[in-house]
Amino acid sequence: MLDQLSALQIEALAALADIQDESALENFRVGYLGKKGSLTALSAGMREVPADQKGAVGQKLNEVRTALTAGIEEKVAAMAAAKDAASVAGIDVTLPGLPTPNGALHPLTRIRDRAIQTLRRMGFALADGPEIETEWHCFDALNTPADHPARNEKDTFYLPDGRLMRTHTSSVQIRTMESIKALPVRIIAPGAAYRRDEIDATHLSVFNQLEGLYVGRDVSLADLKGTLEYFFQEIFGPQTQVRFRPHFFPFTEPSFEIDVKLEVKGQAPKWIEIAGCGMVDPAVFEAVSKSRGDNLFDPDLVTGFAFGMGLDRLAMILHGITDIRHLIENDVRFLGQF
Ligand code: DAH
Repeated sequence: MLDQLSALQIEALAALADIQDESALENFRVGYLGKKGSLTALSAGMREVPADQKGAVGQKLNEVRTALTAGIEEKVAAMAAAKDAASVAGIDVTLPGLPTPNGALHPLTRIRDRAIQTLRRMGFALADGPEIETEWHCFDALNTPADHPARNEKDTFYLPDGRLMRTHTSSVQIRTMESIKALPVRIIAPGAAYRRDEIDATHLSVFNQLEGLYVGRDVSLADLKGTLEYFFQEIFGPQTQVRFRPHFFPFTEPSFEIDVKLEVKGQAPKWIEIAGCGMVDPAVFEAVSKSRGDNLFDPDLVTGFAFGMGLDRLAMILHGITDIRHLIENDVRFLGQF
């Protein structure tokens, strides 16, 4: 029995050395160690071994089984290593990798995100509305009469059905007030606006605005000034002076343009117009009440302020960009500077 076992071990290990592929290895394993394998058959002979030899034979049996199992494992590892080596054959894995350029956010995206973050910290929630608007939401409800120049065919993209590409994000004020369930309204709406402008260094026919609206019981001009002064100091730095200059917008009364005093490199600090704002005109609340059919926005009970600014302009001022067209040309030589 001992001799048989030794012979089997020698024969098996010799056969194993010649094995090249996985299926042959599996056949080998089954052939020796499987239920009907030759080593398994030999161990069945243990029953006939005289008692005084059982210990030695048992030990030899274990030895052979261990040797075969270890041999199989080694073969498996060797085959895996050969496979790995084959898959990188001809590739110099010590060559340096190809550099992948780092991406970054577009300056417009960055200023928009910063503006949103700042205003959200102050309690403004995001709102939005369609870019294809009705004249009602874009003009009438915003107290803009039919003969207002903004409604001219020459200034605005009208669709055949009478709707138009919104000329400002102020339409979102109306959309929000029409649908909101309870006061206060405190929203911001960043988004695209469209005008039939000749494209030049300061005009695009599609540009970006950020609208804000706060309506409640006792919203005052002081709230408006405090909110926007804080906002622009967050954007341009805490020392920034902010000025409110009387102006006219159909949907606010009183209305203001906001200027910030900024230093353009190498020049004396100067006032730069940055946004429009004002106290919501009662005529706007009346229009909203009419379409809602209730008195949540009763002009005798609610007050509010609104503001709007151009995000492209904000990005240009912040980064000293002199031509708005750079913002949409996607030239990496330009974008890579931010
Ligand atoms: N909608 C104005 C524009 O596009 C900007 C604006 C001015 C928005 C005053 C406002 C506001 O909400 O109160 O020029």
